[in-house]
Amino acid sequence: MALVSMTGLMNHALQNGYAVGYFEAWNMESILAVVDAAERTNSPVIIGFGGQFIGSKKRTVRENIEHYGYLGKAIAKNTKLPVALLLNEAHTVDLLIKGLHSGFNAIMYESHDLSIEEFTSLNKYLVKTAHYLGAVVEAEIGQLPDSDISSNTISKGEKTDPDLAAKFVEESGVDALAVSVGNVHLLESGHAEIDFDLIRCLRKKVKVPLVLHGGTGISEDDLRQAVSLGMCKVNVGTILKRAYLKSIQNYLGNHDVDHMDPHNVIGRGGSMDMLCGAREAIAEEVVRFIKIIGSENKAHLI
Ligand code: 13P
Repeated sequence: MALVSMTGLMNHALQNGYAVGYFEAWNMESILAVVDAAERTNSPVIIGFGGQFIGSKKRTVRENIEHYGYLGKAIAKNTKLPVALLLNEAHTVDLLIKGLHSGFNAIMYESHDLSIEEFTSLNKYLVKTAHYLGAVVEAEIGQLPDSDISSNTISKGEKTDPDLAAKFVEESGVDALAVSVGNVHLLESGHAEIDFDLIRCLRKKVKVPLVLHGGTGISEDDLRQAVSLGMCKVNVGTILKRAYLKSIQNYLGNHDVDHMDPHNVIGRGGSMDMLCGAREAIAEEVVRFIKIIGSENKAHLI
């Protein structure tokens, strides 16, 4: 079906005591895996790509965001589920505008280098542009720490100030707010310590739906509790790439691919296809999260 509004999905989730998942993809089989999982569980879902990766300055091969927008839109059209398409955490306005024109119906700009005044006015502009094109805008106030697996360190973040968040939402007009409540991006070992009192306070003061990033590093119980307190969108990324990598690593460790028909290993889609196995590994993780955050069997209610 046609794309549905991300805030529509979030509001339905909020009113019905569950959260909708944003499961970040990076290529064809990862985005298809997210939809496989949502179809298996009859769940609404937010699909999309990370602007910080597709638009990364470190890229040696240039990517065109339009390819990703058209792909996501076509995939959404071919499922009966309610799906929104998010261009998440982009670092340039240019990428977001191109994204809006190629089919994304939700966008998020990320920068921690701007003053609050600059950040507000930039988001005001994005809201005006996105709304004109039938899309919505998410922003973050506060800053999630990042975990770095190679150095086993966690950067310093900043929890969301509820008054600042409320003022920002009021002035910028954004449709959804990502908050820093102890959650950590990219955390694969141990669990983040979620500040539930802060979530309660933010829910009271902030007038738009709240988003919990860093789904990988939050325990199942804490995810359930955060959702019960009104977090109605949960972002999941790192754990999906890890599942993909592990599946390919296992495959290559167990098969002598030099003596196999390469079309069986990649492309034929049978039981020997390494990328189908990786897609399945992602889908299994997504199903697990869908069950935790309670969006299973909610698709037909929207
Ligand atoms: P993780 O990669 O830590 O799951 O976080 C994903 C995310 O918040 C994307 O916005």
